[in-house]
Amino acid sequence: MLKIAPSILAADFARLGQEIRDVDRSGADWIHIDIMDNRFVPNLTFGPPVIRAVRPETRLPFDVHLMTVHPETLFPALIEAGANVLTVHAEACTHLHRTVNRIRELGCLAGVALNPHTPLSVLDYVLQDVDLVLIMTVNPGFGGQSFISGMLPKIRELRKKLAEIGRPEVHIEVDGGITDETAPLVREAGADVLVAGSYVFGQTDREKAISSLRR
Ligand code: DX5
Ligand code: ZN
Repeated sequence: MLKIAPSILAADFARLGQEIRDVDRSGADWIHIDIMDNRFVPNLTFGPPVIRAVRPETRLPFDVHLMTVHPETLFPALIEAGANVLTVHAEACTHLHRTVNRIRELGCLAGVALNPHTPLSVLDYVLQDVDLVLIMTVNPGFGGQSFISGMLPKIRELRKKLAEIGRPEVHIEVDGGITDETAPLVREAGADVLVAGSYVFGQTDREKAISSLRR
């Protein structure tokens, strides 16, 4: 089952609650929330207080993408604020196995994100423990960048690995440069959760934008 996760990074922050209600009504499955710390990535966004403030606006799962160093220090506050999926970057975690298992103990779905240059092999000994793998299709930090097509073989290879270990249910999420043109390519390669920021929030008709990603 394909999921569309609009990234609120591209929303109008002055009307964030309304923007979230709008994509909820327009057929979104998850709300993607990008946490950036100006250390792991050269940009700064929002944290638990903002997530808590918008939690009453929707019942859709909050898919939280942590682009931060020491992400585990934020887990309790994020969960208290209403996060449902917590995705950490493999590059930011010295003890990735411990971190992933901590997320599951706390009752969230556990995701691991890989920067474009990071090989799939970093997941070899943790793939049994994850609920989701996020393949970055741009270098993280900013919305509105171009899709890196070299990530398509990576998605295909991951889908194959997951089948081989008997875990076809693990989500493959893609993030960065997703449009109506790139969506069919990542879906064909095996992705089942599509994050889209500027493509969805950049159009006035969000229902049309979201449904165009499903075609
Ligand atoms: C980038 C973020 C993305 C971003 C995607 O670092 O992780 O979630 O919002 O933006 P678009 O869809 O515009 O490439
Ligand atoms: Zn993201």
